[in-house]
Amino acid sequence: MKNHIKEFLDLARRLAREAGMYALSEQKKVLHIERKSNQFDLVTNVDKHNEEFIQSEVAKIYPDHEYLGEEGAHTKTTSGIRWIVDPVDGTINFAHGMPIWCVSIGVEVDGVIECGAIYDPNRDELFSAIRDGGAFLNGNNISVSKISDPGLSLFVTGFAYNIAENEGKAIERFDAFLHRGLLVRRLGSAALDLCYTACGRFDGFFEASLSPWDTAAGSLILREAGGKITHYDGSDYSIYKKSIIASNGLQHELMSEVVNSVA
Ligand code: IPD
Ligand code: CA
Ligand code: CA
Repeated sequence: MKNHIKEFLDLARRLAREAGMYALSEQKKVLHIERKSNQFDLVTNVDKHNEEFIQSEVAKIYPDHEYLGEEGAHTKTTSGIRWIVDPVDGTINFAHGMPIWCVSIGVEVDGVIECGAIYDPNRDELFSAIRDGGAFLNGNNISVSKISDPGLSLFVTGFAYNIAENEGKAIERFDAFLHRGLLVRRLGSAALDLCYTACGRFDGFFEASLSPWDTAAGSLILREAGGKITHYDGSDYSIYKKSIIASNGLQHELMSEVVNSVA
């Protein structure tokens, strides 16, 4: 299986790069934007194109594999191998011409994420990881920061589209970090938040309500870069559950304490 996983990663890297380059060229044109669950929940013609492109390319080579993509393409088979894809992570940024978004592809085998690739065409940055094989940015090994002083740290969070309903008390938790004097950013791409924590640009990331395609690749990249990842309640992380605390390890306890200071 190890050889196969290397092949899966090569394909994930190629498809993330191709879909990312396509999206970058299309961003300069007129986008067709539709709303999904509410006014903030957007999907563009590019999200849909990338979804179809990645799914069909995977199916050409691995017709028996499962596919789980954000824009509705879900297939079920008995192979135990599932491609988990966010065709554009950071769609609001993308639709507004902001250069903070990416394509994310993770591959799960029998319930374990074995490899993943995330491509940011704006910075030509390809993040990838293979389980027990380390994490990489454009072929160079990356690792989480070694910063233990909260005062020297930079954190990042995200808000789900139903932020008005304040799921997981996202607003109070953001506020709790700020009131502790901690620096927090909100970029709008959970996959990049994980990659940036993996390579030490951020020291930790937290968010209340994510989906498997947001974190499949990024959670592996973070772990392989030496980071720690749990849910808000401290339990072992699963991409199929919503909340996330991802950190350089040294800040995990503090992040957990601040997140859980909000009842
Ligand atoms: C969203 C982004 C955002 C996060 C949201 C996600 P999308 O994904 O990752 O940073 O805060 O929770 O839904 O819709 O742009 O693919
Ligand atoms: Ca997403
Ligand atoms: Ca998306």
